[in-house]
Amino acid sequence: MTSAVAISGSPSRESRSRRLLAHALARCAGAGLDTRLIDLCDLPADDLLGRTKSAAIADALAAVSAARIVIVGTPVYRASYSGMLKVFFDLFTMDALDGKVAIPIATGGGSAHQLVIDHALRPLLASVGAQVVATGIYATDAQFGADGPQDVVTQRIDRAVAEALGIADVAAVAAQPFRAASKG
Ligand SMILES: Cc1cc2nc3c(=O)[nH]c(=O)nc-3n(C[C@H](O)[C@H](O)[C@H](O)COP(=O)(O)O)c2cc1C
Repeated sequence: MTSAVAISGSPSRESRSRRLLAHALARCAGAGLDTRLIDLCDLPADDLLGRTKSAAIADALAAVSAARIVIVGTPVYRASYSGMLKVFFDLFTMDALDGKVAIPIATGGGSAHQLVIDHALRPLLASVGAQVVATGIYATDAQFGADGPQDVVTQRIDRAVAEALGIADVAAVAAQPFRAASKG
């Protein structure tokens, strides 16, 4: 079955960006996809730094490898994505996300660094072969209330998921000749 995997780059399991990932995954599940959320903060630090390879990191990498849709969420740290997300992506080969569709999500303290979506997350995802949907999601901390993120934020996520579902099968088929060529 087609699957969607979300990668949380926040050190907190109660994080805002993680909440947005959970919303995106719920939408994917509603569309009939298998879903899974990977909390990078649960993985051993030595694995993330590439010094060791435990079953936990092998399992996380395999889940991403098997997914058709990859949703990446991160807090803005120092005007970019979190270091934890960076080291996780350093474990991938250049074609690791070939044929997959990616959705970029970030939250920040304010709006000053909202270009993290277009200037940091899109190039990161493209560097490993993913096709990134047109709609990226950026939310400030002020856009979260006691009941969760504002509707304007969840509506953007719904739109991004719809885009991903629309192109996921096409992206997978289109990548096949390139995958075959790189193996040959
Ligand atoms: C170490 C650190 C660096 C941060 N740097 C920025 C920043 O450069 N720009 C910004 O808008 N917010 C910054 N923030 C605020 C977080 O991005 C923001 O609170 C975010 O929503 C937290 O996401 P999370 O709840 O998913 O972890 C920083 C927070 C921390 C702890």
